[in-house]
Amino acid sequence: MKNIIKQISARQILDSRGNPTIETTIYTEKNIKAKASVPSGASVGKYEAKELRDNNKNYYRGKSVLKAVQNVNDCINKLLVGADVIDIYNIDKIMIEADGTYDKSNLGANAILSVSLAAARCASKTLNVPLFRYIGGINAVHMPIPFINILNGGVHANNDIDFQEFMIVPYGFESYTEAMIAANNVFFSLKDVLEEIGYSISVGDEGGFAPELETNEEAIRILMTAIEKAGYNFEQIKIAIDAASSEFYDEGMYELTSESRYMTSEEMSDYIKDITCKYPIISIEDGMAQDDFSGWKNLTDNLSKEIMLVGDDLMATNPLRIRECIKEKTANSVLIKPNQIGTLTETIKAVQIAKEARYKTIISHRSGETEDTFISDLAVGLNTGFIKTGSLCRSERTVKYNRLFEIESMLKDNAIYSF
Ligand code: PGA
Ligand code: ZN
Repeated sequence: MKNIIKQISARQILDSRGNPTIETTIYTEKNIKAKASVPSGASVGKYEAKELRDNNKNYYRGKSVLKAVQNVNDCINKLLVGADVIDIYNIDKIMIEADGTYDKSNLGANAILSVSLAAARCASKTLNVPLFRYIGGINAVHMPIPFINILNGGVHANNDIDFQEFMIVPYGFESYTEAMIAANNVFFSLKDVLEEIGYSISVGDEGGFAPELETNEEAIRILMTAIEKAGYNFEQIKIAIDAASSEFYDEGMYELTSESRYMTSEEMSDYIKDITCKYPIISIEDGMAQDDFSGWKNLTDNLSKEIMLVGDDLMATNPLRIRECIKEKTANSVLIKPNQIGTLTETIKAVQIAKEARYKTIISHRSGETEDTFISDLAVGLNTGFIKTGSLCRSERTVKYNRLFEIESMLKDNAIYSF
């Protein structure tokens, strides 16, 4: 009886873009408490669970989340007081049933997820084990390889680059700590390279530089220069891209504004194939738009043996959509964002389904983040192999990397860094 929930209480806080989000604290009879907060995206996919916002234009420009806060403090609190905090499956099930919608638009995915994550953290504290251990047991020893977004474009930056994220992937190293040293060297090398050319070194939403580059290919070439100038080769550090192409797809066409190109689905797929042949790219996320299924299929047929083809908007961390993609042999990797589906246990299910089909999995932050480090523990706990959590500056990003340093030192010699 001691592990039972005594009270759940939420409040409104601010995320890294200054927009309101929700933070929830759970208290148990044993006097243990734990809190969690939830992030928010800018390039939000059409198939994601819905975050509840108040839409009152006179208050936080319509972005406040007081209704979601109230849903936690009233409805969810009433439903879950008395429940066993260790039994996360039961906690999530109660909230999913009470919400009753397919996209959690009733209670709000932001409200539900904040409770789900706080409960898991509270359970780990109750059992006196680190969060990653609670999630993954003694099997949780794999440090994720980070996808580090050091050049920002798309809706995350003020420049005209069409692709949203240009990431470095420190692949060929002995440990997470070694990999991060190399990544840090490349980050500062990129800063020098940009300054030398006369570009701005101000940063975008995820902490990557956001210079006014001409084309996507220029961005890739500048990253390559930064990697080489830092003294690394492309076996050690590879490049990954999130095109976030649903953002520039309309009526069957892809519009790359910075390059003045207007492409059919086939041309877009050829363009992606072309850049992956030319450059040391290991992964393309959302190369095709969320509703361009035939384009996705075409891209997968062309490239799935060569590189990771990651579905973000396409699958939206939704077990049903992931199953559908697996059945149709579409993409070969899944981006996992807990707030796209709205509970921890459904997120776990999404990872399980992907892994069973040998799809790769990448745990991911959102562009609007908080100081919460849950996803670092989640990546290790679920042995996902990869994590994407932004650049190497801005505390809402580095806090996740720092938590991974801590986890690696807790794991000592048992930590594995490879995939
Ligand atoms: P978002 O960006 O959080 O703005 O959706 C991240 C991504 O697209 O992967
Ligand atoms: Zn994405």
